[in-house]
Amino acid sequence: MPSGRPEPLASPESVYATGTTPQIDPDTSRGWFRRLLPVIAARRRTFAIVVFTGLTGLAIQMSVPMVLRSAIDESLADISNPGAFADLRRHVVLLVGMGVASFGLRFTYRYLLFGAAYRIETDLRAAVYQHLTRLSFSFYDRVAAGEVISRANSDIRSIQLLLAFGPLAGLSATSFLIAFGFMLSIHVPLALVTVSTMPLVYVLGQKLRDQVFPLSWVTQGRMAEVATVVDENINGTRVVKAFAAEFGQVTLMARVADRLRWSATALIEARARFNPLIEAIPRLGMALVLLYGGYLAIDGQVGVGSLLAFSGYVTMIAVPFRMFGFVLLQAQRAAASSMRIYEILDEAPAIVDRPGAREPVPGAPDIGRVEFRNVTFAYPTTSASSVEGEVPLVLDGFNLVVDPGETVAIVGRTGCGKSTVARLLPRFYDVSSGAVLVDGLDVRDRTLIGLRRSINQVPDESFLFSESLHDNVAFGRPGASRSEVEAATRIASADDFINQLNDGFNEVVGERGYTLSGGQRQRISLARTVLADPRILVLDDATSAIDVQTEEAIHRGLTRLMSDRTTIVIAHRLSTIRLADRVVLMEGGRIVADGTHAYLLATEPRYAAILTQTTDTETLGEAD
Ligand SMILES: Nc1ncnc2c1ncn2[C@@H]1O[C@H](COP(=O)(O)OP(=O)(O)O)[C@@H](O)[C@H]1O
Ligand SMILES: [Mg+2]
Repeated sequence: MPSGRPEPLASPESVYATGTTPQIDPDTSRGWFRRLLPVIAARRRTFAIVVFTGLTGLAIQMSVPMVLRSAIDESLADISNPGAFADLRRHVVLLVGMGVASFGLRFTYRYLLFGAAYRIETDLRAAVYQHLTRLSFSFYDRVAAGEVISRANSDIRSIQLLLAFGPLAGLSATSFLIAFGFMLSIHVPLALVTVSTMPLVYVLGQKLRDQVFPLSWVTQGRMAEVATVVDENINGTRVVKAFAAEFGQVTLMARVADRLRWSATALIEARARFNPLIEAIPRLGMALVLLYGGYLAIDGQVGVGSLLAFSGYVTMIAVPFRMFGFVLLQAQRAAASSMRIYEILDEAPAIVDRPGAREPVPGAPDIGRVEFRNVTFAYPTTSASSVEGEVPLVLDGFNLVVDPGETVAIVGRTGCGKSTVARLLPRFYDVSSGAVLVDGLDVRDRTLIGLRRSINQVPDESFLFSESLHDNVAFGRPGASRSEVEAATRIASADDFINQLNDGFNEVVGERGYTLSGGQRQRISLARTVLADPRILVLDDATSAIDVQTEEAIHRGLTRLMSDRTTIVIAHRLSTIRLADRVVLMEGGRIVADGTHAYLLATEPRYAAILTQTTDTETLGEAD
């Protein structure tokens, strides 16, 4: 693939199947961590190995100072002893062995732990994405999808961080207990003196976080500010240049960049002040060990080896105290993050297959028939602010029958609900009352996959992926051969401009296809639907940005295609309307006139009025 993206799976069933991805606990009354457990439990074997290897590694690591102590206090205490050297050698071999074992175990548990945390991150991302694909249009009307996705990304990351560092902090706390136990076993007062400096590590760590976190919020916000200015200046460069506003924009950029520099510097300053201080505390502890322990050693109460062991422990036990506050904070963040993720996951898809959803029997007489039966429809409201009954009805008593193989044009003013009619057919939304029947079955009784395979539309706004033109067209039928793709583009009259491109079909279009003109995008979008080869075809203003000559060529290709299938064209132009066997005029959410073009032109003044308007715009020539 030229864009270097991994190939999507071709099977459309996979979109709706939750498959083997672990899902969160759907019970919303439970706490956030409880709900996350099924996802964590999917990796329980790994976590079990992590705990086992982690604890073993720790035990070995924490015994090192004890072995040192025994080497010094026992083997070297009496150097005149002839066995002293052999004894020392035994200790050295033991220490090397412990080093190797501890390395192996620590490597294993860190590798597994971080691996599991990332795997859970991947699982959560898959669960969220799967859910996002199941959510209906009404959800996307309500929220900015881009924001949801980017928010989900950073929120999933913060859960991943907690899952990686939480167990590490747990192990670290255990290491403190082991070390403290060993120290107590050597000398109780000295052990207490040694750990006495540790709360200071925690307190200073908290102080650091108190200063760093507000600053890092501010810094993040200012980074976004800079990114926005850069983004708008690059995407809006035509406007900026057209208004000769470069100087103003450069000054604006300098100002936001300077704001970012200020907070970033303040952040570094806080870190530079606290970090060396925190790192110095174990040395203070070591000094205390030397002072008090040295006194005890001179007094003969402890051996020199014990002093060495204590100073070893002092550096080790500072780690859990540093980590504790961090993990506490991370847990708070993960809790907030999980709430935001659950908000998405708890959103029930408005449009799903009914239990017992079925497909029409192949060859049934109603295949290809479309019927709107007394349909009332209003878009779902975004909030509770609008009182029931105040919601404006887009469709109100809408009735229409299109027979198999027939071509019907829907004509009406902008905003009268033509596209809405098209959106009800594949169940992008459900009717408020009445029914929509496709192939003789209520669309709500059919499976979404079956329904959306039998009906396809060229939408009023074309969307292209940042992939090659070939892939964009082949999206209509994954696995289609190159010659099938080419045939579809010929019907859509897209072949001539594609052949003129340097890379032809392999040309990768820019973001959302904006490197193409509106008319070119429409033709690719049309080719995509032609390739999908639906039994029922809906063209929603599909050629509005295409010049009249090209449109004629497209119509020649389409006429052949439309001859044996049901087609609904939503049109403004006379040239498009002429494709239809029958024209219906929409007004006030229903059909007010129905007949051939000639009949309506002669009998319906409102129809004539709309046509006059649109014919005017047509003579202006909307070439691409
Ligand atoms: N997703 C939506 N959410 C809420 N209202 C919508 C949505 N889409 C369209 N509308 C409203 O429904 C009415 C009909 O729109 P539409 O069917 O797109 O008109 P047409 O295609 O005839 O120009 C318009 O008033 C429009 O503002
Ligand atoms: Mg429309």
